[in-house]
Amino acid sequence: MKLWEGRMSGEVDARLNQLNASIGFDQRMYRQDIRGSMAHARMLGKTGILSPEDTQAILSGLAAILADIDAGRLTIDPEAEDIHTFVEGELTARIGDAGKRLHTGRSRNDQVALDDRLYLADETLELIAGVKHLTETLCTVAEGHLTDVMPGYTHLQRAQPVTLAHALMAYAQMLLRDMSRLQDCRSRTMVSPLGSGALAGTTYPLDRRMVAQELGFHDISMNSIDGVSDRDFALELMSALSILMMHLSRLSEEICLWCSWEFRFMTLDDRFSTGSSIMPQKKNPDIAELVRGKTGRVYGDLMTLLTAMKGLPLAYNKDMQEDKEAVFDAVDTVRLCLEVLPPMLESAAFHPDNLRKAAAQGFINATDCADYLTKKGVPFRDAYHVVGALVKQCVEAGYTLETLPLSAYQAAHPAFEEDLYQAIDLLNCVSRRTVEGGPAPEAVRAQIAWTRAQLAEIKDAE
Ligand code: ARG
Repeated sequence: MKLWEGRMSGEVDARLNQLNASIGFDQRMYRQDIRGSMAHARMLGKTGILSPEDTQAILSGLAAILADIDAGRLTIDPEAEDIHTFVEGELTARIGDAGKRLHTGRSRNDQVALDDRLYLADETLELIAGVKHLTETLCTVAEGHLTDVMPGYTHLQRAQPVTLAHALMAYAQMLLRDMSRLQDCRSRTMVSPLGSGALAGTTYPLDRRMVAQELGFHDISMNSIDGVSDRDFALELMSALSILMMHLSRLSEEICLWCSWEFRFMTLDDRFSTGSSIMPQKKNPDIAELVRGKTGRVYGDLMTLLTAMKGLPLAYNKDMQEDKEAVFDAVDTVRLCLEVLPPMLESAAFHPDNLRKAAAQGFINATDCADYLTKKGVPFRDAYHVVGALVKQCVEAGYTLETLPLSAYQAAHPAFEEDLYQAIDLLNCVSRRTVEGGPAPEAVRAQIAWTRAQLAEIKDAE
């Protein structure tokens, strides 16, 4: 039996059911649906719209349904149109007429908007906890590599020396911003639409603020038409998740490169790698590749809902039911990625010798070499040209700046002296970059401490 039987007679076409039903995917919101209905019922009782007996019957009925679903004693009927229909139908089957009074002053339109918000707000807390854990992992791994010099890249060309710790902590900073975006979007999600009715509010003297407060919302929506037709909160969440996935994808790309024989900066633990069915030597970074690959999927989820929403006239339209599969998929995908990255990073072995070797080969101390001359009074642009010519000479003769003899330096410029080698020593080059936010070990140690202090401020539970 459809909730809306009455206006229409007879059975609907089975094909309509298939397209129309959302129970297959919205049943995961049963807790939020019941929580919302209990708050609504309590308010109906408090305001005298429902009798104390009916209110009590509804509350215990809903509590029993929740317990039964949780315990697996009650299966959600796949034939029901959606989770809201199922819960109301089950309640009525259990308690009779009182169950039919639950929907007083409410529409499925404000109910589904409420459920969406409650569900996504809960999920967002878990996502924040996941990002937090990954950030903590990056801090811990970074702490072990404060003096491991590696090339920093621009254009994927070796550019200047940094440390592995500094490179990893760059990702931690991205994740801090992701968490702040998630918190921010959650605060706009925690606005209660209940009381908007179908679109035009209601004539019952509802206490909207009581319901909102009971459910942990910090505000109520201020326009009933907007209350039922707004899905910004889902879009914002998917936008934040898209940016987060872009970060995870960049980290993953880096991991794929670093695991290649060309780089050999790290090796993944066997538990987090896969092999090939034909090439016996293969050890593949599939997890990183999948995180990179699934990023496109999350962007797709965002585009799905943006596109579904863009042409909708006010207020609720059934197109909006499409919000759920998209946002659930985005949330599930991100959660999976966040679960697998920390143990993969923790168990990976980094190879400081190879990092160091790569750092020694790209003339990444050329800027420091030019700075050395500048400190001796040579104008920077002149020093730049002198060192450029020296690099050319090294490339041709197979030297690095560290192995090029002093005589060659002095032939290029008389200001070069023996202390030059100190100045271009890679660890010295990094250690001198003590500017706040720089790669010197002490600066990165401070960065890690600062990041941990930020993490301690992040609320990941209510
Ligand atoms: N399953 C619907 C959804 O997800 C619930 C709202 C139904 N409202 C309606 N007017 N048909 O959007």
